[in-house]
Amino acid sequence: MNRWTCPGVGPETQKKTSPVAVTRSCSFPLASSSLIHTRRRIGPQPKETNYPALNASPVVPPEFPAWGATMDMWGTKMLASVHTLAGMAAVGLDLPPASFQDLLHEGPHLLAPTGSDFSKYGALGSVLAGYHYDLNFLTIHGKSRFPGLFVWLKNGTRMAVKVPTGHLIVQAGKQLEHLTAGHVQAGFHEVVVSDATVRAKGGQALWGLFQPCLPCWLTGLCVPQIV
Ligand SMILES: [Fe+2]
Repeated sequence: MNRWTCPGVGPETQKKTSPVAVTRSCSFPLASSSLIHTRRRIGPQPKETNYPALNASPVVPPEFPAWGATMDMWGTKMLASVHTLAGMAAVGLDLPPASFQDLLHEGPHLLAPTGSDFSKYGALGSVLAGYHYDLNFLTIHGKSRFPGLFVWLKNGTRMAVKVPTGHLIVQAGKQLEHLTAGHVQAGFHEVVVSDATVRAKGGQALWGLFQPCLPCWLTGLCVPQIV
């Protein structure tokens, strides 16, 4: 496989795409992660489940007394936003409004902010998250502290994401693609230290909290039966 092609961004997509768009490299995942994740489940959990690992108790750092309350407050609002969006998506697809919302009930939803240590991974071109799509239903992000998230459009074009202040971005995951028989496709994306990232952080070797959220899995809204 040519390292400059993007497996999964096609092949149907690649056939429709100009050589320029297809040959823009995707960044492959690194052997070791340059992202730090913390995850907290959000919303009601099932009393009985065949998948207990999906509903594991969160790790709470004792150094942050307000950790749980803050994460729950934030996560509940994100979950509510996506719940509304799931209803809108169903209406847009000519389905009963609660079609997706009912499936999301008691799902293993995760609030999962990510960050990266710029003293180690701050150089131009550093791959913080290799290109991929999300396996969940929908992923919602707030505005990140630093630029660096790139997405692929349906025609194969790669573009930088710029989230206006006060806005959210929502990405389709593989579960939504399955549920709509491919009508809505999971979006490929990656996180790379770009010129804009370098300019934003200046000469500081700080922690790039790509949260409220560059990368992904912010709120991984999942349909429990499919995960
Ligand atoms: Fe992702």
